[in-house]
Amino acid sequence: MSALTSESRLVDSFETRIAGIDSVDLDKLHALSMSVAWPHRREDWQFLREFGQGIAAIDEIGRILGSAMWFPYDDRFATIGMVITSPRLQANGAGQWLMRHALDQVAGRNLGLNSTRAARRLYLSLDFVSEAPVYQCQGEATLPPDVELSDGAVVRPLDAGDLGPIADLDRVAFGTDRRLLLARLIASSKGVVLVRGGRIEAFSLCRRFGRGHVVGPVVASSDADAIAVIHPHAVEHAGAFLRLDTREKGGIFGDFLSRCGLAIYDMVTTMSLGEPWLPNPGHQAEHQPKTYALVSQALG
Ligand SMILES: CC(C)(COP(=O)(O)OP(=O)(O)OC[C@H]1O[C@@H](n2cnc3c(N)ncnc32)[C@H](O)[C@@H]1OP(=O)(O)O)[C@@H](O)C(=O)NCCC(=O)NCCS
Repeated sequence: MSALTSESRLVDSFETRIAGIDSVDLDKLHALSMSVAWPHRREDWQFLREFGQGIAAIDEIGRILGSAMWFPYDDRFATIGMVITSPRLQANGAGQWLMRHALDQVAGRNLGLNSTRAARRLYLSLDFVSEAPVYQCQGEATLPPDVELSDGAVVRPLDAGDLGPIADLDRVAFGTDRRLLLARLIASSKGVVLVRGGRIEAFSLCRRFGRGHVVGPVVASSDADAIAVIHPHAVEHAGAFLRLDTREKGGIFGDFLSRCGLAIYDMVTTMSLGEPWLPNPGHQAEHQPKTYALVSQALG
């Protein structure tokens, strides 16, 4: 072996400081998420920065080595997301460090997050408890079969005046009022509502995200209604990349997603700290609105 190849040097010694996520360069945040193969675009980061708060870990020459964000929906509940450490720094305690900062900022609230496999040990060590799997379904959308609407239901495009009723449905399903988030999402999404007897009983939003479009949130009281409000988005994006993150697997809903070309690509785990986040399925009343698709893994 030559002297050149056997030479080694310790180069991984970073002095790191924490900065507000608003103060750092969007392109560098984008590079950070790309370094862990996440699909977020600059615009997706910007949307999250405008809605939530967060921190970035920066080295002496301004490189971003990590991030963590939190989304305080009210003074009782927040989600945590966008927890990333640069691959060359992983397993050195940076994840713990960033999470401790984030947890300080949301102290006193119940917390929810969706954990990747890589992050599971980190969150378990911080006393988060696993609640349910989330299936990340995606692919090139295919034209789904027609759906029949039950009990005189009609499906129509969502308009700005629907914010109140859809926020009420979402609050029952999600457990916390997300009116502000929904108002922002409506501005950049196409929406569909299902109306029965003059009342909105289900809705879906679909927006640009990552590699294509994402459908979410979707709130409905039955698989059939959820399918009815997702169907128009699948038709519109047939032939293009579409994604939907759901806790529902199997049954007619799972079957419908498969027929839309949305196969399970990955799985994450919903976890909580404090009070349980998700309603206990055993205690959930029939025909109660539930979340069929997440806004995103970070926002729940
Ligand atoms: C998840 C992630 C943020 C963890 O960051 P990190 O800087 O490696 O975290 P830490 O060094 O503080 O390690 C935290 C714990 O996870 C363990 N850990 C770290 N990397 C691990 C790996 N690849 N496999 C198993 N355990 C691992 C550490 O040993 C540590 O456990 P301990 O507290 O019991 O000692 C980082 O791996 C990452 O950015 N992954 C890709 C993006 C991602 O999945 N983010 C999570 C979104 S929910």
